[in-house]
Amino acid sequence: RWTVDSNVEKQNSYPQIAEAAEYLRTGHVIAFPTETVYGLGADATSDAAVQGIFDAKGRPSDNPLIVHISNTDSLHDLVSSISSEAEKLIQSFWPGPLTIIFNKKQGVFSDLVTAGLDTIGIRMPSHPVALELISRSGKPLAAPSANTSGKPSPTSAEHVALDLTGRIKGIVDGGETGVGLESTVIDCTVTPPMILRPGGVSAEEIAACIGPVRVDPSLKKEQSAPRSPGMKYTHYAPVAPLYLIKGEAAWIQQTIHRFQQEGKKVGLLASEELGAQLQADVVKVCGTREDPATIARGLYNGIRSFNDTDADLILAEAFDEKGIGAAIMNRLEKAAGHKWIKESSS
Ligand code: TXA
Ligand code: MG
Repeated sequence: RWTVDSNVEKQNSYPQIAEAAEYLRTGHVIAFPTETVYGLGADATSDAAVQGIFDAKGRPSDNPLIVHISNTDSLHDLVSSISSEAEKLIQSFWPGPLTIIFNKKQGVFSDLVTAGLDTIGIRMPSHPVALELISRSGKPLAAPSANTSGKPSPTSAEHVALDLTGRIKGIVDGGETGVGLESTVIDCTVTPPMILRPGGVSAEEIAACIGPVRVDPSLKKEQSAPRSPGMKYTHYAPVAPLYLIKGEAAWIQQTIHRFQQEGKKVGLLASEELGAQLQADVVKVCGTREDPATIARGLYNGIRSFNDTDADLILAEAFDEKGIGAAIMNRLEKAAGHKWIKESSS
């Protein structure tokens, strides 16, 4: 484990980063912090290195990886065309939590990265440690979230260590990540562009930048096949079953009591506001409704933290789908397998 201080703007003085970059240059798999979640990086141009990522995560090989770059100078060497919408998005949101899907240039990346697709997802993260590591490695880095497939994405080096110790060469520990949810994925090979995964940049922000934008309609439904291969798998799931819950606080309290009368230990994942009003066997607060970004930041740690408790089930507060709320609800819906408990239906 290499520990660095993410608040330092100039990361180039760290010998730890140079050492980690050397492993990447020579085809090894390294976990590192980004502003969204921890990534599991390897040289995107090497089959063997990229295979190492799939092996470490237990990731299905039909799920393509995002490529991370540290500057836009060489983007034209990686993709076959850049639409005007993509240009605008790059100007506004890179470096940052936005992954753009382009038509790929043939013969640049390992075919394993793109899982046989003609398109490639690329992002330039804004985390100083990530930027320094990519730039020092001298390679575009394929990097999915650094969790075991199916688990919530890691927002700290501890989460990475719990999932992947013994399976990777090392972890660059830069403390907790900022956004806490993965990047937004937007397909700019279609007109108008389509959001395939809601994330750190909201649909509202994207629309303000480029005008009309669509959201993959299948994200709302349980059965249909989403356009982003990764969105079809069960994700972010804790050990105990999780249900989204929506209703008045008093009714949620009654619901908790009903489960307890059945002999169940009830976990509650909630905002400060709701958490303060309710009693359950385990209450985990992930942020404040006043600032949904705090909910996003604390969400995965909140979900994971129930694994150390005796909760038999978890009730998770449903949030407004505005702004970052769309990404929060997308992840909670997936963690819940779309299971809801609603006041109106009881
Ligand atoms: O914030 C993030 O994006 C993090 C950090 C580490 O950068 N990375 C991340 O990667 O979340 P991953 O592999 O866990 O998720 C990538 C998502 C998957 O849902 C995948 O199916 C989709 O992006 N994706 C990648 N390439 C694609 C492509 N060419 N077309 C459609 N979807 C693609
Ligand atoms: Mg992931």
